[in-house]
Amino acid sequence: MTSFYLSKPYDPPQAPQNLPLDRPWALLGGISPQQFMKTHWHKKPLLVRGAIPAFELAKQIGEPLGSAISAEELFKISGNDVVESRLIQAKPWSFADGPFKKKSIPSLDTPDWTLLLQGMEARHPAAAKVISWFRFIPDARLDDLMISIAGPGGGVGPHFDSYDVFLIQMSGRRRWRISEQKDLTLNPDLPLKILRRFQVEQEWDLEPGDMLYLPPHVAHDGIALDAGCQTWSVGFRAQSYKEMLQEGLWRLAESLEDIPELEQRFADPKQMATSSAEQLPQEIIDQIEQKLKGLKLDRVGTFLPGIAAYLSEPKPQAYFDGSTNDHSPEEFKRLLEKQALKPHPQTRLLALGKTIYCNGEDMTSGQTLPIQKAWRSLAAKKETKGPTGKIELENSLFEAFVAGWLIF
Ligand code: SIN
Ligand code: CO
Repeated sequence: MTSFYLSKPYDPPQAPQNLPLDRPWALLGGISPQQFMKTHWHKKPLLVRGAIPAFELAKQIGEPLGSAISAEELFKISGNDVVESRLIQAKPWSFADGPFKKKSIPSLDTPDWTLLLQGMEARHPAAAKVISWFRFIPDARLDDLMISIAGPGGGVGPHFDSYDVFLIQMSGRRRWRISEQKDLTLNPDLPLKILRRFQVEQEWDLEPGDMLYLPPHVAHDGIALDAGCQTWSVGFRAQSYKEMLQEGLWRLAESLEDIPELEQRFADPKQMATSSAEQLPQEIIDQIEQKLKGLKLDRVGTFLPGIAAYLSEPKPQAYFDGSTNDHSPEEFKRLLEKQALKPHPQTRLLALGKTIYCNGEDMTSGQTLPIQKAWRSLAAKKETKGPTGKIELENSLFEAFVAGWLIF
Protein backbone atom coordinates (compact mmCIF):
# COMPACT_ATOMS: atom_id res chain seq x y z
CA MET A 1 0.00 0.00 0.00
CA THR A 2 1.20 3.51 -0.81
CA SER A 3 1.26 6.26 1.79
CA PHE A 4 -1.65 7.80 -0.11
CA TYR A 5 -4.06 5.52 1.71
CA LEU A 6 -2.60 6.35 5.10
CA SER A 7 -2.28 10.09 4.68
CA LYS A 8 -4.10 12.51 6.94
CA PRO A 9 -7.06 14.28 5.34
CA TYR A 10 -6.53 17.94 4.49
CA ASP A 11 -8.80 20.20 6.53
CA PRO A 12 -9.58 23.26 4.39
CA PRO A 13 -10.05 26.52 6.31
CA GLN A 14 -13.12 28.72 5.93
CA ALA A 15 -12.17 32.04 4.28
CA PRO A 16 -12.35 35.08 6.58
CA GLN A 17 -15.41 37.33 6.38
CA ASN A 18 -13.40 40.27 5.04
CA LEU A 19 -11.16 39.13 2.22
CA PRO A 20 -7.93 41.10 1.75
CA LEU A 21 -8.48 41.91 -1.93
CA ASP A 22 -5.29 43.93 -2.40
CA ARG A 23 -2.88 41.51 -0.71
CA PRO A 24 -0.98 38.71 -2.47
CA TRP A 25 -2.63 35.30 -2.09
CA ALA A 26 -0.85 31.94 -2.29
CA LEU A 27 -4.07 30.57 -3.81
CA LEU A 28 -3.56 32.89 -6.78
CA GLY A 29 0.18 32.34 -7.10
CA GLY A 30 1.22 35.41 -5.12
CA ILE A 31 -0.99 37.97 -6.81
CA SER A 32 -3.96 39.73 -5.23
CA PRO A 33 -7.58 39.00 -6.15
CA GLN A 34 -7.71 42.52 -7.69
CA GLN A 35 -4.72 41.70 -9.86
CA PHE A 36 -6.07 38.26 -10.74
CA MET A 37 -9.37 39.74 -11.92
CA LYS A 38 -7.51 42.34 -13.99
CA THR A 39 -5.04 40.04 -15.69
CA HIS A 40 -6.55 36.54 -15.77
CA TRP A 41 -10.26 36.33 -15.01
CA HIS A 42 -12.23 35.53 -18.16
CA LYS A 43 -9.05 36.24 -20.15
CA LYS A 44 -6.15 33.83 -19.72
CA PRO A 45 -5.17 30.61 -17.93
CA LEU A 46 -3.12 30.65 -14.72
CA LEU A 47 -1.15 27.74 -13.32
CA VAL A 48 -0.50 28.02 -9.57
CA ARG A 49 2.02 25.71 -7.96
CA GLY A 50 1.37 25.31 -4.24
CA ALA A 51 -1.96 27.15 -4.34
CA ILE A 52 -2.69 25.33 -1.07
CA PRO A 53 0.70 25.54 0.74
CA ALA A 54 -0.41 23.01 3.41
CA PHE A 55 0.19 20.13 0.99
CA GLU A 56 3.83 21.03 0.34
CA LEU A 57 4.53 21.78 4.01
CA ALA A 58 3.05 18.44 5.08
CA LYS A 59 5.15 16.65 2.46
CA GLN A 60 8.32 18.33 3.74
CA ILE A 61 7.74 17.01 7.25
CA GLY A 62 7.08 13.55 5.86
CA GLU A 63 3.35 13.49 6.62
CA PRO A 64 1.70 14.00 3.24
CA LEU A 65 -1.93 15.07 3.21
CA GLY A 66 -4.75 13.28 1.45
CA SER A 67 -7.94 14.78 0.08
CA ALA A 68 -10.38 16.27 2.57
CA ILE A 69 -12.91 13.68 1.36
CA SER A 70 -11.93 10.03 1.09
CA ALA A 71 -12.65 7.84 -1.94
CA GLU A 72 -15.04 5.76 0.19
CA GLU A 73 -17.02 8.87 1.17
CA LEU A 74 -17.23 9.94 -2.48
CA PHE A 75 -18.45 6.51 -3.57
CA LYS A 76 -21.08 6.62 -0.88
CA ILE A 77 -22.22 10.08 -2.00
CA SER A 78 -22.49 8.81 -5.61
CA GLY A 79 -25.13 6.34 -4.39
CA ASN A 80 -27.41 9.20 -3.31
CA ASP A 81 -30.12 9.78 -5.93
CA VAL A 82 -30.32 13.54 -5.31
CA VAL A 83 -26.63 13.91 -6.28
CA GLU A 84 -25.80 14.47 -9.94
CA SER A 85 -23.10 11.90 -10.73
CA ARG A 86 -21.57 10.41 -13.85
CA LEU A 87 -19.15 7.55 -14.48
CA ILE A 88 -16.97 7.94 -17.55
CA GLN A 89 -14.83 5.27 -19.20
CA ALA A 90 -12.05 6.06 -21.65
CA LYS A 91 -10.74 3.63 -24.31
CA PRO A 92 -13.37 3.42 -25.73
CA TRP A 93 -15.42 6.38 -24.49
CA SER A 94 -18.69 5.59 -22.70
CA PHE A 95 -20.62 6.98 -19.75
CA ALA A 96 -23.42 6.22 -17.31
CA ASP A 97 -25.44 8.51 -15.05
CA GLY A 98 -25.72 7.83 -11.32
CA PRO A 99 -26.71 6.96 -8.68
CA PHE A 100 -24.11 4.20 -8.41
CA LYS A 101 -23.86 1.15 -6.21
CA LYS A 102 -20.41 0.67 -4.68
CA LYS A 103 -19.80 -2.46 -6.75
CA SER A 104 -20.43 -0.68 -10.06
CA ILE A 105 -17.47 1.68 -9.43
CA PRO A 106 -14.07 0.26 -10.48
CA SER A 107 -11.33 -0.11 -7.86
CA LEU A 108 -8.97 2.85 -7.51
CA ASP A 109 -6.11 1.22 -9.43
CA THR A 110 -8.26 0.04 -12.36
CA PRO A 111 -7.22 2.19 -15.35
CA ASP A 112 -9.24 4.66 -17.45
CA TRP A 113 -12.33 5.55 -15.43
CA THR A 114 -13.56 8.76 -13.79
CA LEU A 115 -16.44 9.43 -11.45
CA LEU A 116 -17.81 13.00 -11.47
CA LEU A 117 -19.88 14.41 -8.61
CA GLN A 118 -21.62 17.78 -9.02
CA GLY A 119 -22.79 20.19 -6.31
CA MET A 120 -20.44 18.84 -3.66
CA GLU A 121 -20.61 22.07 -1.59
CA ALA A 122 -24.04 20.85 -0.49
CA ARG A 123 -22.76 17.37 0.41
CA HIS A 124 -19.61 17.99 2.43
CA PRO A 125 -18.51 20.93 4.61
CA ALA A 126 -14.94 20.71 3.24
CA ALA A 127 -16.24 21.50 -0.26
CA ALA A 128 -18.33 24.40 1.09
CA LYS A 129 -15.20 25.78 2.78
CA VAL A 130 -13.16 25.58 -0.43
CA ILE A 131 -15.89 27.51 -2.26
CA SER A 132 -15.65 30.24 0.40
CA TRP A 133 -12.11 31.04 -0.82
CA PHE A 134 -13.54 32.31 -4.09
CA ARG A 135 -15.94 34.91 -2.69
CA PHE A 136 -13.90 37.66 -4.32
CA ILE A 137 -16.01 36.73 -7.35
CA PRO A 138 -19.74 37.65 -7.25
CA ASP A 139 -22.04 34.92 -5.88
CA ALA A 140 -24.29 35.41 -8.94
CA ARG A 141 -21.51 33.89 -11.07
CA LEU A 142 -20.90 30.84 -8.89
CA ASP A 143 -22.10 27.50 -10.19
CA ASP A 144 -20.84 24.70 -7.96
CA LEU A 145 -17.95 22.55 -6.83
CA MET A 146 -17.52 19.34 -8.79
CA ILE A 147 -15.23 16.55 -7.64
CA SER A 148 -13.71 13.99 -9.97
CA ILE A 149 -12.10 10.81 -8.72
CA ALA A 150 -10.30 8.61 -11.21
CA GLY A 151 -8.17 5.57 -11.82
CA PRO A 152 -4.82 5.98 -13.65
CA GLY A 153 -5.45 7.20 -17.20
CA GLY A 154 -8.96 8.39 -16.28
CA GLY A 155 -10.30 11.64 -17.68
CA VAL A 156 -13.20 13.13 -19.60
CA GLY A 157 -11.23 13.65 -22.82
CA PRO A 158 -10.12 16.85 -24.59
CA HIS A 159 -13.01 19.32 -24.43
CA PHE A 160 -13.89 22.91 -23.64
CA ASP A 161 -16.30 24.43 -21.13
CA SER A 162 -18.36 27.59 -21.41
CA TYR A 163 -17.52 28.35 -17.78
CA ASP A 164 -14.61 29.80 -15.84
CA VAL A 165 -13.13 27.06 -13.70
CA PHE A 166 -10.52 26.64 -10.96
CA LEU A 167 -9.16 23.07 -11.08
CA ILE A 168 -7.67 22.21 -7.70
CA GLN A 169 -5.58 19.06 -7.41
CA MET A 170 -6.53 17.35 -4.14
CA SER A 171 -5.13 13.83 -4.39
CA GLY A 172 -2.65 12.09 -6.67
CA ARG A 173 -1.30 13.80 -9.78
CA ARG A 174 -3.12 14.87 -12.93
CA ARG A 175 -1.54 15.81 -16.25
CA TRP A 176 -3.27 18.84 -17.73
CA ARG A 177 -2.80 19.72 -21.36
CA ILE A 178 -4.40 22.89 -22.68
CA SER A 179 -4.80 24.77 -25.94
CA GLU A 180 -6.19 28.18 -26.85
CA GLN A 181 -7.07 26.84 -30.31
CA LYS A 182 -9.86 28.49 -32.31
CA ASP A 183 -11.23 25.25 -33.75
CA LEU A 184 -13.71 23.94 -31.16
CA THR A 185 -15.49 21.41 -33.40
CA LEU A 186 -16.62 18.32 -31.53
CA ASN A 187 -16.26 14.74 -32.68
CA PRO A 188 -19.80 13.81 -33.81
CA ASP A 189 -19.18 10.06 -33.43
CA LEU A 190 -18.57 10.05 -29.67
CA PRO A 191 -21.10 9.91 -26.82
CA LEU A 192 -19.22 12.66 -24.93
CA LYS A 193 -18.34 16.22 -25.88
CA ILE A 194 -14.83 15.58 -27.17
CA LEU A 195 -12.90 17.84 -29.53
CA ARG A 196 -12.31 16.51 -33.03
CA ARG A 197 -8.79 17.96 -33.13
CA PHE A 198 -6.87 18.87 -29.96
CA GLN A 199 -3.65 20.78 -30.60
CA VAL A 200 -1.76 20.73 -27.28
CA GLU A 201 0.05 24.00 -26.56
CA GLN A 202 0.99 23.62 -22.88
CA GLU A 203 1.30 20.69 -20.50
CA TRP A 204 1.79 20.42 -16.75
CA ASP A 205 1.66 17.65 -14.15
CA LEU A 206 -0.28 18.99 -11.16
CA GLU A 207 0.54 17.73 -7.68
CA PRO A 208 -1.83 17.88 -4.70
CA GLY A 209 -2.21 21.54 -3.71
CA ASP A 210 -1.59 22.89 -7.23
CA MET A 211 -4.33 24.70 -9.14
CA LEU A 212 -5.09 25.60 -12.74
CA TYR A 213 -7.50 28.42 -13.64
CA LEU A 214 -9.10 28.26 -17.08
CA PRO A 215 -11.34 30.89 -18.65
CA PRO A 216 -14.20 29.69 -20.89
CA HIS A 217 -13.42 28.04 -24.23
CA VAL A 218 -9.81 27.07 -23.47
CA ALA A 219 -9.51 23.47 -24.70
CA HIS A 220 -8.24 21.13 -21.98
CA ASP A 221 -7.62 17.49 -21.20
CA GLY A 222 -6.78 16.21 -17.73
CA ILE A 223 -5.47 12.68 -17.36
CA ALA A 224 -5.13 11.06 -13.94
CA LEU A 225 -1.59 9.81 -13.30
CA ASP A 226 -2.29 8.06 -10.01
CA ALA A 227 -4.92 5.77 -8.53
CA GLY A 228 -7.65 7.74 -6.75
CA CYS A 229 -6.65 11.04 -8.40
CA GLN A 230 -9.02 13.76 -7.16
CA THR A 231 -9.59 17.11 -8.83
CA TRP A 232 -11.96 19.65 -7.32
CA SER A 233 -13.41 22.11 -9.85
CA VAL A 234 -14.91 25.36 -8.66
CA GLY A 235 -17.05 26.37 -11.62
CA PHE A 236 -18.58 29.73 -12.48
CA ARG A 237 -21.69 29.90 -14.64
CA ALA A 238 -22.73 32.58 -17.11
CA GLN A 239 -26.23 32.72 -18.55
CA SER A 240 -26.88 33.88 -22.08
CA TYR A 241 -28.23 37.41 -22.46
CA LYS A 242 -31.32 35.82 -23.99
CA GLU A 243 -31.89 33.72 -20.87
CA MET A 244 -31.49 36.67 -18.50
CA LEU A 245 -33.77 38.94 -20.54
CA GLN A 246 -36.41 36.28 -21.08
CA GLU A 247 -36.44 35.37 -17.38
CA GLY A 248 -36.53 39.05 -16.38
CA LEU A 249 -39.34 39.81 -18.82
CA TRP A 250 -41.36 36.82 -17.77
CA ARG A 251 -41.21 37.80 -14.10
CA LEU A 252 -41.95 41.41 -15.00
CA ALA A 253 -45.07 40.23 -16.88
CA GLU A 254 -46.15 38.28 -13.78
CA SER A 255 -45.68 41.37 -11.59
CA LEU A 256 -48.30 43.28 -13.64
CA GLU A 257 -50.81 41.18 -11.68
CA ASP A 258 -50.14 43.49 -8.74
CA ILE A 259 -51.26 46.67 -10.57
CA PRO A 260 -55.08 46.77 -10.32
CA GLU A 261 -55.57 49.73 -12.67
CA LEU A 262 -54.22 47.65 -15.54
CA GLU A 263 -57.42 45.59 -15.26
CA GLN A 264 -59.31 48.53 -16.78
CA ARG A 265 -60.47 48.04 -20.35
CA PHE A 266 -59.29 50.01 -23.30
CA ALA A 267 -61.56 52.97 -24.01
CA ASP A 268 -61.63 55.04 -27.19
CA PRO A 269 -64.26 57.76 -26.90
CA LYS A 270 -62.04 59.94 -29.15
CA GLN A 271 -61.93 57.42 -32.03
CA MET A 272 -63.00 59.10 -35.30
CA ALA A 273 -64.61 57.51 -38.32
CA THR A 274 -61.87 55.75 -40.36
CA SER A 275 -61.32 54.90 -44.00
CA SER A 276 -58.62 52.31 -43.15
CA ALA A 277 -60.49 49.97 -40.81
CA GLU A 278 -57.85 47.24 -41.25
CA GLN A 279 -55.14 49.24 -39.45
CA LEU A 280 -54.32 48.87 -35.77
CA PRO A 281 -55.92 52.06 -34.43
CA GLN A 282 -53.61 54.93 -33.46
CA GLU A 283 -55.63 55.22 -30.23
CA ILE A 284 -54.36 51.82 -29.10
CA ILE A 285 -50.77 52.65 -30.07
CA ASP A 286 -50.82 55.98 -28.20
CA GLN A 287 -52.42 54.58 -25.07
CA ILE A 288 -50.07 51.59 -24.89
CA GLU A 289 -47.13 53.94 -25.31
CA GLN A 290 -48.37 55.93 -22.30
CA LYS A 291 -48.74 52.75 -20.23
CA LEU A 292 -45.22 51.59 -21.13
CA LYS A 293 -43.84 54.95 -20.05
CA GLY A 294 -45.81 54.76 -16.80
CA LEU A 295 -44.39 51.29 -16.09
CA LYS A 296 -40.86 52.55 -16.87
CA LEU A 297 -40.32 49.66 -19.23
CA ASP A 298 -37.48 51.53 -20.89
CA ARG A 299 -35.40 51.55 -17.65
CA VAL A 300 -33.07 48.79 -16.54
CA GLY A 301 -34.24 49.11 -12.93
CA THR A 302 -37.64 47.78 -13.94
CA PHE A 303 -36.10 44.50 -15.14
CA LEU A 304 -33.56 43.97 -12.37
CA PRO A 305 -35.87 42.51 -9.70
CA GLY A 306 -36.90 39.76 -12.12
CA ILE A 307 -33.32 39.07 -13.14
CA ALA A 308 -32.10 39.05 -9.52
CA ALA A 309 -34.93 36.67 -8.55
CA TYR A 310 -34.00 34.42 -11.45
CA LEU A 311 -30.28 34.38 -10.61
CA SER A 312 -31.13 33.45 -7.01
CA GLU A 313 -32.99 30.30 -8.09
CA PRO A 314 -31.43 27.15 -6.61
CA LYS A 315 -30.19 24.34 -8.86
CA PRO A 316 -33.06 22.34 -10.35
CA GLN A 317 -32.01 19.25 -8.38
CA ALA A 318 -31.80 21.16 -5.06
CA TYR A 319 -33.82 19.46 -2.36
CA PHE A 320 -34.96 21.18 0.84
CA ASP A 321 -36.49 19.28 3.71
CA GLY A 322 -38.15 21.54 6.23
CA SER A 323 -39.56 18.67 8.28
CA THR A 324 -36.64 18.72 10.71
CA ASN A 325 -37.15 22.45 11.29
CA ASP A 326 -40.35 21.70 13.12
CA HIS A 327 -40.52 24.59 15.61
CA SER A 328 -43.19 27.05 16.58
CA PRO A 329 -42.56 30.72 15.74
CA GLU A 330 -41.88 31.31 19.46
CA GLU A 331 -39.33 28.51 19.64
CA PHE A 332 -37.72 29.80 16.45
CA LYS A 333 -37.44 33.26 17.98
CA ARG A 334 -35.80 31.84 21.10
CA LEU A 335 -33.35 29.74 19.07
CA LEU A 336 -32.45 32.78 16.99
CA GLU A 337 -31.30 34.60 20.11
CA LYS A 338 -28.85 31.82 20.94
CA GLN A 339 -27.67 30.33 17.67
CA ALA A 340 -26.48 31.48 14.26
CA LEU A 341 -28.96 30.90 11.45
CA LYS A 342 -27.33 29.90 8.15
CA PRO A 343 -28.44 29.25 4.60
CA HIS A 344 -28.92 25.58 3.72
CA PRO A 345 -25.94 24.63 1.48
CA GLN A 346 -28.24 24.49 -1.57
CA THR A 347 -29.87 27.84 -0.86
CA ARG A 348 -28.89 30.70 -3.15
CA LEU A 349 -28.94 34.28 -1.91
CA LEU A 350 -28.51 37.41 -3.95
CA ALA A 351 -28.76 41.09 -3.07
CA LEU A 352 -30.05 43.85 -5.32
CA GLY A 353 -29.19 46.95 -3.31
CA LYS A 354 -31.01 46.40 -0.03
CA THR A 355 -33.47 43.83 -1.39
CA ILE A 356 -32.51 40.22 -0.71
CA TYR A 357 -33.60 37.38 -2.97
CA CYS A 358 -33.51 33.83 -1.70
CA ASN A 359 -34.18 30.80 -3.89
CA GLY A 360 -36.04 32.92 -6.44
CA GLU A 361 -38.09 35.03 -4.01
CA ASP A 362 -37.92 38.56 -2.63
CA MET A 363 -37.53 38.06 1.14
CA THR A 364 -37.21 41.65 2.37
CA SER A 365 -39.96 43.77 0.79
CA GLY A 366 -42.68 44.53 3.33
CA GLN A 367 -40.68 42.98 6.21
CA THR A 368 -39.70 44.68 9.47
CA LEU A 369 -36.26 46.28 9.75
CA PRO A 370 -34.72 43.57 12.01
CA ILE A 371 -35.85 40.89 9.54
CA GLN A 372 -34.43 42.84 6.61
CA LYS A 373 -31.15 43.23 8.50
CA ALA A 374 -31.03 39.49 9.21
CA TRP A 375 -31.48 38.74 5.48
CA ARG A 376 -28.74 41.19 4.53
CA SER A 377 -26.41 39.47 6.94
CA LEU A 378 -27.38 36.04 5.56
CA ALA A 379 -26.61 37.22 2.02
CA ALA A 380 -23.34 38.99 2.85
CA LYS A 381 -21.93 36.86 5.68
CA LYS A 382 -23.83 33.60 5.18
CA GLU A 383 -25.17 33.78 8.70
CA THR A 384 -27.20 35.90 11.04
CA LYS A 385 -27.14 36.02 14.79
CA GLY A 386 -30.35 36.80 16.64
CA PRO A 387 -32.03 39.92 15.24
CA THR A 388 -32.27 42.26 18.17
CA GLY A 389 -35.43 44.22 18.80
CA LYS A 390 -38.96 43.14 18.19
CA ILE A 391 -39.63 40.64 15.48
CA GLU A 392 -43.06 39.60 14.31
CA LEU A 393 -43.79 35.93 14.75
CA GLU A 394 -44.90 35.59 11.14
CA ASN A 395 -42.02 36.74 9.00
CA SER A 396 -40.05 35.70 5.93
CA LEU A 397 -37.13 34.44 8.05
CA PHE A 398 -39.39 31.97 9.85
CA GLU A 399 -41.08 30.96 6.58
CA ALA A 400 -37.70 30.26 4.96
CA PHE A 401 -36.68 28.26 8.05
CA VAL A 402 -39.86 26.16 7.87
CA ALA A 403 -39.19 25.52 4.17
CA GLY A 404 -35.71 24.22 5.03
CA TRP A 405 -33.98 27.09 3.19
CA LEU A 406 -32.32 28.23 6.42
CA ILE A 407 -30.83 26.05 9.14
CA PHE A 408 -29.30 26.44 12.60
C1 SIN B 1 -11.98 16.37 -14.33
O1 SIN B 1 -11.90 16.77 -13.17
O2 SIN B 1 -11.57 15.27 -14.65
C2 SIN B 1 -12.62 17.19 -15.39
C3 SIN B 1 -12.79 18.60 -15.06
C4 SIN B 1 -12.89 19.44 -16.31
O3 SIN B 1 -12.20 19.20 -17.27
O4 SIN B 1 -13.67 20.41 -16.38
CO1 CO C 1 -13.56 20.90 -18.36
